Amino acid sequence: MNKSTRKAIIAGNWKMNNTRPEAKELLQAIKPLVANAENNVEVIACVPFTNLETAVNVTAGSNVKIGAENVHFKKNGAYTGEISADMLTELGVEYVVVGHSERRQYFGETDETVNLRTLAALEAGLKPIVCVGETLEQRELGITEEVIAMQTKIALKNTCEKCIKNVVIAYEPVWAIGTGKVATPEQAEDVCAFIRKTVEGLFNKEIADGMTIQYGGSMNAKNCAELLAKPNIDGGLIGGASLKAEDFNTIVQAAVEG
Ligand code: 13P
Repeated sequence: MNKSTRKAIIAGNWKMNNTRPEAKELLQAIKPLVANAENNVEVIACVPFTNLETAVNVTAGSNVKIGAENVHFKKNGAYTGEISADMLTELGVEYVVVGHSERRQYFGETDETVNLRTLAALEAGLKPIVCVGETLEQRELGITEEVIAMQTKIALKNTCEKCIKNVVIAYEPVWAIGTGKVATPEQAEDVCAFIRKTVEGLFNKEIADGMTIQYGGSMNAKNCAELLAKPNIDGGLIGGASLKAEDFNTIVQAAVEG
């Protein structure tokens, strides 16, 4: 494995937070702080749909990229309340979070729909950040690897070798999200390495070694350096700590060092 051949990505996932004026203020604060990361770390803010246009405009010309938090898998049609991949690319959005555990838990997202959303995103030219992660019960049952393998394999079903370069995987153990209970660097490293092995099995070693695999779940300014120093952890998907410019920047800087 050679971490230096992979792109480090620090992405904020704002979840259901921030109105447009708040989004503008936060991004304006983040931009100058992370400007030095341009050549080393991809910095992304994944924001609510209503903030996307504002976010794209505020970050234009900077090294902060914008992502959405979900995307529908149909191109268009009678799907009230949904947003298509083309609608996102037309706004200038580059990334999209797919299969976040909150979507799986509260909105009936399944491995199959995660796969469909991943394919729809790729087809439209978006870069999906595909989330996988076990629940506490699954970890305690000793089936973490089975769950992660299944989620990863189904999510990546039918992705072509050319498109796979645009896929990012985020390992987010459900028990660590928003709980303050972060995975130990060793736990996170083990699962990220396992995801890479799984991707190697699906494609090949070159693709697996080139894939950015993030950790997410209570990553913050204090614990980020240890996590990001691990050989298979190529970045972070940050919830709560991405809502404060200083904290988010500390994580970006840890990735720059890292
Ligand atoms: P927290 O960083 O708030 O635990 O959220 C992690 C997450 O779900 C990012 O997608």
